[in-house]
Amino acid sequence: MQDNPFDLTGRTAVVTGASRGLGQEFGRALAAAGADLVITSRKRDDLAAFQAEIESLGRKVTALELDVRDHGSIQRMADAAANACGAIDILVNNAGCNVRKPALDVSWDDWNLVLDTNLRGTFFVAQAIGRGMVERGYGRVINIGSVTSVAGYAGLGPYCASRGGVKQLTMSLADDWGPHGVTVNCLAPGWFRTEQNKVLYENQEWLDYLVDRIPLRRPGQPGDLRGAVVFLASDASQYVTGQTLLVDGGISTGATRATVPAKD
Ligand SMILES: NC(=O)c1ccc[n+]([C@@H]2O[C@H](COP(=O)([O-])OP(=O)(O)OC[C@H]3O[C@@H](n4cnc5c(N)ncnc54)[C@H](OP(=O)(O)O)[C@@H]3O)[C@@H](O)[C@H]2O)c1
Repeated sequence: MQDNPFDLTGRTAVVTGASRGLGQEFGRALAAAGADLVITSRKRDDLAAFQAEIESLGRKVTALELDVRDHGSIQRMADAAANACGAIDILVNNAGCNVRKPALDVSWDDWNLVLDTNLRGTFFVAQAIGRGMVERGYGRVINIGSVTSVAGYAGLGPYCASRGGVKQLTMSLADDWGPHGVTVNCLAPGWFRTEQNKVLYENQEWLDYLVDRIPLRRPGQPGDLRGAVVFLASDASQYVTGQTLLVDGGISTGATRATVPAKD
């Protein structure tokens, strides 16, 4: 192992869904640890500002188009990444979406959108990038799950199903690819304010309700995910595979009080 097992110098990481939100946080953390990046979006132009930010750190950045609901697009991205960078060492399978609705209102198309993006997309991107990792005998795959990988929430039926699937998929891929030197883990964020969910955070009543259920008493903030993604991407986690690492302020504990508040 290197002197600094968290050092990613000389490694290349693909981060999907890096046009905004958590994908950019993951990319920033990996680049700060030394990695060059391949970043993706359905609209390549939406990557320009982030590409410039990471290049200003002295890292090489390749911006590619990717729609994870399109098998051909996944293959084109993997081929272009290999042509531009050679070996891909790290994959952060981050692209995802959500539909928030009571279960009785969820349509067939809602279900397909969420499952096709979050679960089918995660598998086929892992397959396309993982092929080269298996051939070379080295790789770190990080599937982005969620606290909903381990807990159910009202209004998130398709999303919870997709994230539970990502957790199980992670264990299966870890078994498949462990003998080939490729680790596969799931990084599961709790509640972080991004474009995907900002409408919730604009409602103070809902925010108070959320914070009351988080043992660390605040929603996630951007820097909270950095250590976890670098750990799972680096040699520091070389004997860790098939695991789901929750970074959630503790909300997955259940966070239900079993005592009544003391009276003054
Ligand atoms: N925010 C949270 O609290 C939270 C918690 C747990 C897990 N997560 C998961 O973490 C990931 C990032 O979340 P976020 O909050 O940053 O979401 P976000 O702001 O909505 O960003 C989602 C990213 O996914 C990409 N994407 C969506 N559909 C895609 C498709 N069909 N093909 C390719 N890329 C696609 C988007 O890229 P383009 O639109 O540019 O193509 C965008 O970059 C998601 O998978 C989300 O489910 C989020």
